[in-house]
Amino acid sequence: MSKQIGILTAGGDSPGLNAAIRAIGKTAIRSNMQVIGFRDGFRGLMENRSQRLDGRALSGILTVGGTILGTSRDKPHRMPVGTRVMDMTDVMVDNYARHYLDVLVCLGGGGTQKNALRLAEKGLNIITLPKTIDNDVAMTDVTLGFDTALGIATEAIDRLHSTAHSHHRIIVVEVMGHRAGWLALGAGIAGGADVILVPEIPYQVDIVAEAILRRSRRGSRFSIVAVAEGACTQEQATHIQELEQQRAQTDDPEISASLKAEIKRLRANMIGGTLRLVQRLEEQTGLESRLTILGYLQRGGIPSAADRLLSTCLGTACVELIKKEHYGVMVAARGGSYEAVPLSQVAGNVKLVPLDHPWVQSAGAVGTCLGN
Ligand code: F6P
Repeated sequence: MSKQIGILTAGGDSPGLNAAIRAIGKTAIRSNMQVIGFRDGFRGLMENRSQRLDGRALSGILTVGGTILGTSRDKPHRMPVGTRVMDMTDVMVDNYARHYLDVLVCLGGGGTQKNALRLAEKGLNIITLPKTIDNDVAMTDVTLGFDTALGIATEAIDRLHSTAHSHHRIIVVEVMGHRAGWLALGAGIAGGADVILVPEIPYQVDIVAEAILRRSRRGSRFSIVAVAEGACTQEQATHIQELEQQRAQTDDPEISASLKAEIKRLRANMIGGTLRLVQRLEEQTGLESRLTILGYLQRGGIPSAADRLLSTCLGTACVELIKKEHYGVMVAARGGSYEAVPLSQVAGNVKLVPLDHPWVQSAGAVGTCLGN
């Protein structure tokens, strides 16, 4: 059963990546397989930069944050090479063969799943693991890294209460999550935020301001607003929806491309647009308002126990699939167990917070303002 396994980590770093590399490596070595890691995501596969992952390399990394392999957001089909951007997929296929790999395991989020599928379509044996603090990978209940980030963001909200309460301020805390609200919603509920704004529920500033003023009139002269980095106002959401409709209706590739660029620009403008919300809340409530952006703090440091467990179980399940030569799949956490789901059903799909999700209902039931 001697097989050669390649591993790479791609996209943003996430707590639990090393725990997953360790689990795959240790389980594989015990089954007489050899494991190598490629440095810095798909770039390392293209540049043929690899390292052997033996028992020594895998030892002592369970609790270490980040990824021992390094990572990047480089895509196989659009790789910056010198001053050009090139399709380097075939070079990666050659390097896969050069190492006599039986399978390449790609650990990453939504972008990585798409890139991995591209390589699978080129004939490579691919297995992926779902990794992102955003928890937005389709077909899995949870992604590795999410629980740790949830804990960090919740603790941050706990700590921000001290200043909000003592200084009678509004504190807006921006939480990561890209276009999904899992992290802001989860941490907002767990940390007792008074307002939670997520991309899936476009908000109105007036409604948020009124909820804060209502609290103030009742004697609570502070408020915590947990806002997902991708949250948007109802006007912004309507505008984007209109552009998306126009794009769906046009047959002209140039118009379609320019609409796509405009939608991208508007979305980019939302990410980081939390400062505008803080300013408007201060104007509309007359309460001193401050912004805290948690940023990369949420991705750093040691993984939580739940993430170490998840990473270990996904990693060992991955090696079981390799033994069965079951490729072209992502190892997903589903209903308390770990299963293979076709990569084609994962790539290109995003798992957003459903509006009828129990977290949304519970937040509303305890009186949290969701901005709508
Ligand atoms: O996907 C994980 C994530 O941390 C998102 O929450 C965030 O939008 C993004 O990565 C930030 O990416 P970068 O590392 O490129 O700044």
